[in-house]
Amino acid sequence: MTDRPQHLIDIASQDTTFLRRVLDQAAAMRANPDAFRQAGSGRLMVNLFYEPSTRTRVSFEIAALKLGLQVVNVAAADSSVKKGETLMDTFRTLEAMGPDLLVLRHPEDEALVPLAAAAAPGTHLVNAGSGSRAHPTQALLDAMTLLDEHPDLSQAKVLIAGDLHHSRVTRSSAALLKKLGIGELRLCAPPGLEAGPEVSAGAVVFDDFDAALAGVDVVMMLRIQHERLAGMDIPDPEAYHREWGLTPERLALAAPQARVMHPGPMNRGVEIASEVADGPQSLIQQQVANGVFTRMAVIHELLKV
Ligand code: CP
Repeated sequence: MTDRPQHLIDIASQDTTFLRRVLDQAAAMRANPDAFRQAGSGRLMVNLFYEPSTRTRVSFEIAALKLGLQVVNVAAADSSVKKGETLMDTFRTLEAMGPDLLVLRHPEDEALVPLAAAAAPGTHLVNAGSGSRAHPTQALLDAMTLLDEHPDLSQAKVLIAGDLHHSRVTRSSAALLKKLGIGELRLCAPPGLEAGPEVSAGAVVFDDFDAALAGVDVVMMLRIQHERLAGMDIPDPEAYHREWGLTPERLALAAPQARVMHPGPMNRGVEIASEVADGPQSLIQQQVANGVFTRMAVIHELLKV
């Protein structure tokens, strides 16, 4: 592993020193954003999204603009992908136009792997969410938000709850929290939506949501990934909320002043009640704000700007 990787494809394969440096850099950028305003001047970033996104796409764009990069946005739905062009051909076409950085969201787990292998040395790839496998910048912004609350993560108990099986956020966040030495990572999912063994290793797994909540410092709620259920029954939203929704009553089972996180988009009244999402214990808006600084730091570290 080199000091600075060429790409950011997932958390698992990244060196912990690099990940900590991104988090430190993000905090420095938040403290003094003006100092980095021209850092990426003359560099070009392309956002290429094969799936919908609000937070990730826009915050990458804002992060790049704050660093002085130029940005081009490509929505696959409006591109020659619709004429049958392969992902590799689309990538090679865009790469020939000379971007320094290509940010890609794609529905397939391993979509970025062959692109990373084919990329020229001056082309950097960032995974903006691939299938159910990885969402590394979401994990980094979640860790930044957690560190604001718990600078010593070894003292923190964090619960990730919801559809863990289809969640790229779970995979990346669990991997990062373990690398950062989280005190206790708890996982809890409805039957059929449990995390796989790679994610569960080193975590405490619960099948009872109330028991999982007992005494935790932070609850990270996840939506059901309807777009990835593929043949599974879609739960009734009201029944799901009764059994698996984070309500004010359930949140009271956690530690006093426990914090609530959600990567978004939320399904209000399903996995989370609006009173909780908008309540005083919620960190959801801070997560979004930290997303910009985290992505600035990722761009900065990969491009060496
Ligand atoms: N958290 C997240 O990835 O949100 P978007 O799908 O809006 O980018």
